[in-house]
Amino acid sequence: MNYDTRYPSISDLKTIAKRRIPNFAFDYVDGGIDEEDGKQRNRDAWREIELTPRYLVDVSSADLSTTIFGKTYSMPFGVPPVGLGNMMWPGAEIALATAAQKANIPYILSTYSTTELEEIAKAAPDVCWFQLYVPAKIDTMKDLIKRAKDAGYHALVITLDIPVGAKRNRELKNNLKLPFSMTPNIIWQSAIHPVWALSTLKHGKPDFVNINRYKERPDEGLAEMLTKFNMKGVTRERVEMMRDLWDGPLILKGVQYEADMKAAVDIGVDGVVISNHGGRQLDAAPASAVSLRQLASYASDSMTVMADSGIRTGLDVVRAKALGASMCFSGRSFFWGMGALGPKGAEQVMAIYRDEIDKCLKQLGCNAHEAMDASWLAN
Ligand SMILES: Cc1cc2nc3c(=O)[nH]c(=O)nc-3n(C[C@H](O)[C@H](O)[C@H](O)COP(=O)(O)O)c2cc1C
Repeated sequence: MNYDTRYPSISDLKTIAKRRIPNFAFDYVDGGIDEEDGKQRNRDAWREIELTPRYLVDVSSADLSTTIFGKTYSMPFGVPPVGLGNMMWPGAEIALATAAQKANIPYILSTYSTTELEEIAKAAPDVCWFQLYVPAKIDTMKDLIKRAKDAGYHALVITLDIPVGAKRNRELKNNLKLPFSMTPNIIWQSAIHPVWALSTLKHGKPDFVNINRYKERPDEGLAEMLTKFNMKGVTRERVEMMRDLWDGPLILKGVQYEADMKAAVDIGVDGVVISNHGGRQLDAAPASAVSLRQLASYASDSMTVMADSGIRTGLDVVRAKALGASMCFSGRSFFWGMGALGPKGAEQVMAIYRDEIDKCLKQLGCNAHEAMDASWLAN
């Protein structure tokens, strides 16, 4: 096995990450919204999906590759956008982008990343997609789209599911503030996690480097800027405008409602990520596996259906494919890997998923991930 078998699963990496990184960073990644029921529902819904194994099939090899938007990726699992990535582990974003390029899997950079989009595009020229939190100001939106295009991003991912900022209780209790500032709690947590602290000193304080330039005044605080930055609810008209501005693959992230799915098809969007933002925005949102089951029939040659939220194993990726998702993502999996092992964690997570997907497909009597379909579903 080409990974460290002392940590063979994502939950093992999470255990180590909790020890190695400050509480405020752990809670930032782990936390959901309100009572965190939606986060748990995501996990439960994947776990409930049963697949019936088939034997009498030669499974000496299994093809994990998947072709979407005219490009073949080495496996059906990629890195989703995670804002403030370098707070979890210093240098996480560049390490993940570099590992994704090497592994040939998608890497989606967040608008709220702590590494400039131009730098990430150089590290992951063949696999980078850009995620846009749609700015309220049209000029800012156009500029970000132009920058993404000029830098060579392959797809534009518009996140729909943050119409308003979330009230996340763990972040409030930890007094996690933007810009990232040295409150007494943060100083204490840094002191008792010296490896993280020294590494952060080396890399510099995480900052929203992609959007700082759009401040209205030089002295405008980041918190003030962020309250005004995003549209409060991305409208259909804005998506249509972005369709005209972006001629590559256009993806809507956070789709769960059938009318939104139909609108995506009507507008000529190329793909959707069925997602509830990992249970971080609305605690009552249906589990993404449930929404995927309802909406997967919209997949077609011109509409690629993908999924995330609560995926933690290669088996979940195979389950998602049986339901109709061609590509899956998991933010927390990658950040548990980085938190536990630093830059090596990126490759560890990719290798774990690759091994688990491979073994699950073979166990199910399926020798190509693209062939996995609803006929394997047992419930
Ligand atoms: C700490 C954290 C930050 C995130 N930041 C963003 C972001 O900037 N943009 C975005 O579209 N989604 C963001 N997401 C959502 C992820 O892209 C993805 O939908 C989610 O992680 C999937 O759930 P999982 O972590 O349970 O696998 C974030 C998720 C986490 C955990």
